Amino acid sequence: MKKMTRCTLRCGLYIVLICCIWPFTLWAVENSECFDCHSDESLTKESTSNILQVEITESLYVDEEKFNHSIHNLNDITCVDCHSDIEELNYDEEVPHAIYLQAVVCASCHEESGEEFKSSVHMEMRNKGITMTCYACHGYHYVHQIEGASVAERTNSVCLKCHNPYQYHEWLPAGDSHFAFVECVVCHAPDVPRHINLRFFDLVTNKFYNGDDLLKILGIDYDEFMPTFDKNKDEIINSGEFDDLVLMLKHKKIRTIFHAELVADVDSIAHQIHRGSAQKTCGNCHAADSPYFNAVSILLTMDDGTVERYNVERSVLESYHVNHFYLLGGTRIKLLDKLGLLIIVGGVCGAFGHLSVRLLTRPIRRRREENDK
Ligand code: HEC
Ligand code: HEC
Ligand code: HEC
Ligand code: HEC
Ligand code: HEC
Ligand code: HEC
Ligand code: HEC
Repeated sequence: MKKMTRCTLRCGLYIVLICCIWPFTLWAVENSECFDCHSDESLTKESTSNILQVEITESLYVDEEKFNHSIHNLNDITCVDCHSDIEELNYDEEVPHAIYLQAVVCASCHEESGEEFKSSVHMEMRNKGITMTCYACHGYHYVHQIEGASVAERTNSVCLKCHNPYQYHEWLPAGDSHFAFVECVVCHAPDVPRHINLRFFDLVTNKFYNGDDLLKILGIDYDEFMPTFDKNKDEIINSGEFDDLVLMLKHKKIRTIFHAELVADVDSIAHQIHRGSAQKTCGNCHAADSPYFNAVSILLTMDDGTVERYNVERSVLESYHVNHFYLLGGTRIKLLDKLGLLIIVGGVCGAFGHLSVRLLTRPIRRRREENDK
């Protein structure tokens, strides 16, 4: 008797479950149906901007080619996975779905990022009535995998849309170097794990090498990279092995240099940007044993945007073949000392210079004053 009820209960539950899942699995709306209308570049919508109260024409065009290359499409996320309030299309109506759709909630899938973002300075703005969406930084239809992106690609498409870094960092010398080689969040979200990416840069074409092309030249495959260069099989490329790699490229007539960039790991902690908490202590980075340079890897980006990373020893950063970063090793501290001295000398000279110019020009200024009278 007891067995019977449990069985019927279970069967009942299964039926309910199947009924729930059925419509979504069988009749889930295909992307192609949405593109029937939304791949039309002239499809627009009139709406009233609530801030300025003016009519604006909003494009409803979605670039199919670009969408297909997005990380969401590559991971089988469909239009209706995000626009989840569209459950079916009703072609009896001119617009086959609700005219006003609900806002997409990115954090419904990216819970951790949503959580970390909650206490950040950009969320605090909500107290001032400004809402910052996730897509203000990431975009939405054409999101790319972040890992293979350079510092420039990351900051240009994210922070520089709203901030001009030259406005806030007068105290930081060599702004160009820092903004080109250090991703903003490495300083501004100091708890985010980070690493150095070494990427092959071609000195003739002035371009980064794509991984597929580079390996074709070397005549090896992605999984042959480590076996070829990691001769002592310790799973990390050391200085000697690194030199062999450069030599092999030279034999293939490739004039390449390694660009080293300090980037954040693709980690939700990167959202923890707070007022007044950024890394400011020069010595935390510019020291021989700085923890910022512990993880170093060679980065190869494939045609489809996916990424392969191979660990290299930190000492490789001092190699002559690595652009810029050779300064960051043991020699770095000496250089900073000199730099400090230069700043002090420069400051004194500046003050002296000003004084002596005034002293020298005193007779001229006097004469001028007399003439003016
Ligand atoms: C038969 C053509 C047609 C199809 C098919 C269609 N749409 Fe639309 N869609 C429209 C039109 C027209 C509008 C503009 C409505 C208006 O004027 O406000 C629109 C508006 C939208 C908007 C903007 C809504 C807003 O609140 O501003 C989104 C998002 C959208 N569609 C997504 C989709 C998705 C996702 C699909 C596929 C599941 C889809 N559409 C299928 C015609 C279509
Ligand atoms: C990763 C989530 C995501 C996916 C996948 C997605 N959208 Fe959107 N879509 C958004 C967001 C976010 C907006 C901005 C406004 C909002 O919150 O609704 C938007 C806006 C739109 C708009 C309004 C015009 C615009 O560009 O702002 C249209 C039309 C639209 N989507 C159609 C589509 C179609 C068609 C697909 C599938 C090919 C699709 N979307 C897939 C997140 C997504
Ligand atoms: C101020 C800009 C900004 C905003 C706003 C923002 N992000 Fe991010 N997001 C970043 C940065 C920076 C990274 C780290 C990767 C990198 O180095 O570029 C990141 C990483 C991510 C990642 C990859 C991390 C992982 O764990 O896989 C996801 C997913 C993500 N963000 C989703 C979101 C969501 C969801 C929101 C809204 C709640 C959001 N982001 C708001 C800047 C932003
Ligand atoms: C239906 C689930 C879903 C929704 C909704 C969604 N995403 Fe994603 N997103 C994914 C999946 C799956 C991936 C690929 C795997 C991964 O990296 O987590 C991804 C990847 C990403 C990445 C790249 C992370 C990386 O590793 O490089 C970013 C950034 C991102 N999404 C931002 C957004 C933003 C912004 C929105 C809202 C407009 C959004 N996502 C909405 C499922 C979703
Ligand atoms: C969509 C525009 C936008 C984007 C993109 C953006 N921010 Fe902001 N950010 C703001 C606004 C607005 C404020 C608030 C200024 C205020 O409160 O006065 C702010 C505040 C800040 C602050 C604190 C400033 C202060 O006055 O204390 C920092 C630091 C910051 N952002 C860094 C970043 C970084 C790093 C990125 C890239 C990962 C980024 N922001 C991306 C708009 C943006
Ligand atoms: C070497 C570390 C470092 C780098 C790289 C860096 N910042 Fe900063 N930034 C700081 C520090 C330290 C401050 C001073 C305020 C603080 O303590 O938060 C600051 C101030 C700011 C402020 C004003 C905040 C305030 O409190 O007044 C903004 C906005 C900002 N940075 C954005 C950026 C952006 C965007 C980038 C990337 C292009 C960037 N920063 C790169 C360390 C850095
Ligand atoms: C988050 C780590 C970090 C912090 C903090 C930091 N730097 Fe840097 N700095 C770097 C990196 C990475 C480079 C680029 C590598 C290079 O060019 O040698 C760089 C480049 C430089 C350069 C230019 C070297 C060149 O030849 O282009 C100078 C000068 C410099 N930093 C001084 C400072 C001073 C002074 C401070 C403190 C006010 C400081 N840095 C704070 C990481 C940092």
